[in-house]
Amino acid sequence: MAATRTFSIIKPDATRRNLTGAVTKMLEDAGLRVIASKRIQMTREQADGFYAVHKERPFFGELVEFMISGPVVVQVLEGEDAVARNRKVMGATNPADADEGTIRKAYAESIEANSVHGSDSEENAKIEIDFFFDEDEIVG
Ligand code: CMP
Repeated sequence: MAATRTFSIIKPDATRRNLTGAVTKMLEDAGLRVIASKRIQMTREQADGFYAVHKERPFFGELVEFMISGPVVVQVLEGEDAVARNRKVMGATNPADADEGTIRKAYAESIEANSVHGSDSEENAKIEIDFFFDEDEIVG
């Protein structure tokens, strides 16, 4: 199968605890290659826009506050079946449900401070990559 792309965010709870390298190593060990990466302070406008699909959910306000509470690392990952591969190594959204050997089992603090975001489909991966990266920032 040809390599595909997905989008990842290392969230503020993980950057705060200096886990950028540890999380990235788990991604790489899972067969994903980081083909773009930047550490940014997300603006409120960016967080609102990025999570717009969750606007009606009760946790939306807290989610936005959390995502702008500190730096994040946005990444483009490449690999065979990248979306599914990344979701597998991330583990369940709620760390209480996450399998052993996953990033969220190892590092997540709560369902909100769950250390990583990953795209849930190839279609959304493209939208999310385009939201944060220009094509010339991605070097495979
Ligand atoms: P993420 O993959 O970044 O997409 C939406 C985020 O909302 C999700 O990860 C969770 O971290 C966060 N979130 C906070 N509270 C909840 C909740 N009750 N149910 C689902 N997601 C939640």
